Amino acid sequence: MYAIKTHELTKKFKGLTAVDKLNIEIEKGELFGMLGPNGAGKTTTLKMLSTLIKPTSGTAEVWGYNIQTQKDEVRSNIGMVFQDPSLDIRLTGEENLDFHARMYGLPKQKRKERISEVLDLVELTEHAKTLVINYSGGMKRRLEIARGLMHFPHVLFLDEPTLGLDVQTRRRIWDYIKRMAREEEVTIILTTHYLEEADYLCSRIAIMDFGRIVALDNSKNLKDSVGSDVISLQLDDGR
Ligand SMILES: Nc1ncnc2c1ncn2[C@@H]1O[C@H](COP(=O)(O)OP(=O)(O)O)[C@@H](O)[C@H]1O
Ligand SMILES: [Mg+2]
Repeated sequence: MYAIKTHELTKKFKGLTAVDKLNIEIEKGELFGMLGPNGAGKTTTLKMLSTLIKPTSGTAEVWGYNIQTQKDEVRSNIGMVFQDPSLDIRLTGEENLDFHARMYGLPKQKRKERISEVLDLVELTEHAKTLVINYSGGMKRRLEIARGLMHFPHVLFLDEPTLGLDVQTRRRIWDYIKRMAREEEVTIILTTHYLEEADYLCSRIAIMDFGRIVALDNSKNLKDSVGSDVISLQLDDGR
């Protein structure tokens, strides 16, 4: 079984085809990147895979469950960290996590243990009881990542996880992502428009544009194929 398999997955908005007959297979345990410019269709793809919007045609399985006919099963197996922050800034970090865990029906003792685990993973333990309104941008992003992991999802979607963060904060977030891929045995699908982010983090990268995958390979092969197109000029002696 694949962690994710899509079949001609398509989303149209009026005249615009945002995602165009996408066929991808993502293995369990992969850290898979979707790299592309704004408007390429990355968020739309993640929204379909996480059952937030319906495909126009085609379909997909996430953790073996169909995104249209088995929505509840899909949802209980995934975690999501979307571009738009959705934390409650009037609650503490810990309370945000607890609220999320309650919605997933985790029993009290398990919630407590898990909150301390995920806070530790993103190094927010000291700030557990701080109101989120007082968190920096990087801390909020880390808390969102921690929240995405609260209910032990098999598949985690990260939509542009470091967008708008400064360089140092981005590097720290990268390290957390690597660490959780290793420690939580979760399959991660992340989108980005930073080449170096996909390169640093991902086992395989799909380059997306106009709703289509224009290349899919590991980072080394992608770079080699770009390399072969580089024209080198050599000047004649003495000129
Ligand atoms: N709800 C919507 N209604 C109309 N057009 C949309 C909607 N959501 C996305 N689009 C369009 O679909 C295309 C892909 O968008 P999106 O998936 O957000 O791209 P990305 O995440 O790669 O930047 C864009 O042209 C965007 O304007
Ligand atoms: Mg997007």
